[in-house]
Amino acid sequence: MRDKIVAGNWKMNNDQYQTKELLSNLKSSKIPDDVRVMVAPSFTQLSQSKNLLNNTNISVIAQNMNAAHSGAYTGEISADMLKGIEVNTVIIGHSERRSIFNESDEILKEKVKAALAADMEVIFCFGEELQERKTNNHYKVVANQLKVALFELPEIVWKNLILAYEPVWAIGTGETASPQQAQEMHAYIRKLIAQNYNQSTAENLAILYGGSVKPNNAKEIFSEQDVDGGLIGGASLKANDFIEIFSAF
Ligand code: PGA
Repeated sequence: MRDKIVAGNWKMNNDQYQTKELLSNLKSSKIPDDVRVMVAPSFTQLSQSKNLLNNTNISVIAQNMNAAHSGAYTGEISADMLKGIEVNTVIIGHSERRSIFNESDEILKEKVKAALAADMEVIFCFGEELQERKTNNHYKVVANQLKVALFELPEIVWKNLILAYEPVWAIGTGETASPQQAQEMHAYIRKLIAQNYNQSTAENLAILYGGSVKPNNAKEIFSEQDVDGGLIGGASLKANDFIEIFSAF
């Protein structure tokens, strides 16, 4: 059985007061036993969030990290720093990191390796742009992103990987991939993993969908066979919306 996962990516939102309010609302909700619920606050809110969520089954995860252990990298955070405050999962390769901060698949590959070497779990994001889908290149683009960033990894580390397919045209736009589009791509990805590794690695891998998941579409998307949950941006900032989404399986 694959994990069901719903992760909220807060991006650069929520100061210490908003964090406290949102998390206390989440805490008072019923978290389904069979869903791993995660929140990804900004770096400055990680410790407070860990404290506030102590003794709950909501995990606190990071939005990014640097591949280096330490050194002259002004403004950056290492895997060891995250592990030091017991943040054990990190999102790598979000499309905003790719497009705004110029993180290529080569750079992301190093980040993934560093996180896995530090024994962290990685949520690796990837997905095509609108033009690439319009020209019917979406499968090729996704295959290449996975090949460059992930397919040199040994099979053993795949138990610590979660994939998040996030078509760029659906992120923050209110436009979602249809459940069928998500399912088709997820099935294709699972097939690629089976070809490059083996069937059981592919079967055990959680593949999340991200891009304008909302309370009114989560159930339909999550009910697709190869969709194991979601990475949620905007709707994870509103307690009621996020609760409805992680309760939607
Ligand atoms: P969105 O963001 O849900 O606001 O579209 C998804 C994401 O960026 O992970």
